[in-house]
Amino acid sequence: MSAQLFAILLISLCACAAWASEDEKKLLTKLFENYDTRVRPVLENSDKLTVEVGVTLRKLIKVNPVANTFEAIAWIVQKWQDYQLRWDPTHYGGINRVYVPQTDVFKTDLVLYNSAKAMYKEHRQQPNKVMIMSDGAVLLVDSVKLTADCLINDTATEIACPIILGSWVYDMSQIDLKPGTFSTDPDVIASPMWTVTGMKGKRVERFFPKWELSYVSVNIDVNLSKNKNDMDVDKSHEKANVNANDL
Ligand SMILES: *[C@@H]1O[C@H](CO)[C@@H](O)[C@H](O)[C@H]1NC(C)=O
Ligand SMILES: *[C@@H]1O[C@H](CO)[C@@H](O)[C@H](O)[C@H]1NC(C)=O
Repeated sequence: MSAQLFAILLISLCACAAWASEDEKKLLTKLFENYDTRVRPVLENSDKLTVEVGVTLRKLIKVNPVANTFEAIAWIVQKWQDYQLRWDPTHYGGINRVYVPQTDVFKTDLVLYNSAKAMYKEHRQQPNKVMIMSDGAVLLVDSVKLTADCLINDTATEIACPIILGSWVYDMSQIDLKPGTFSTDPDVIASPMWTVTGMKGKRVERFFPKWELSYVSVNIDVNLSKNKNDMDVDKSHEKANVNANDL
């Protein structure tokens, strides 16, 4: 390649990059010019916002039969539609997704209802960005460390521990939840004593007579099976250590 051609190529690449970033700037300015992060993204006040909640269990840290708790690292995945955050990609240089700090958009105050400690958000490793698609779909993935209440029968070989997620303040007429995808990562999950054998989630409504309001949660059962012999115990223990370093 001649030096001249290379120079031309370089200049055109730079021009392209500058053009793309101008489009993104124009788009973000347009999207957020009248945006209020406190307002639920619904057209009518009587409309509810439906948020899909999914969980990927990354690591089982500890099942504690004395404290009746279990600790895990999980990805909490939330998806919803924000009608204000839609655009036509052809008007913005073909951009079909943008990433913004999660503090820039309205989002639910999702908490772990059966937390044995403070709200799960306090264990978040970093405040992640959200992804916004041109059709208004917003995706938020938080990596959290959970310590959840779970009544543990230590003599049983199969137990189920719950992860219960719901909005702290918004009742069902304002925010509804629907179960998303629940999965475990077989390469990452490891505990000296227990193996995750399955996960299943469902939507649960709970009525509070005192306030005459219903709240929705997504209740996930994490099935655990006790490891059989010492060899299994040793192996999974080593694996747990390796994974702790990976994180
Ligand atoms: C604990 O599990 C054992 C073995 O499965 C069972 O026999 C026992 O009834 C369970 N105890 C309670 C309190 O559920
Ligand atoms: C979890 O365990 C329960 C019994 O405790 C069982 O009914 C259910 O099918 C199991 N679910 C999965 C996903 O393994």
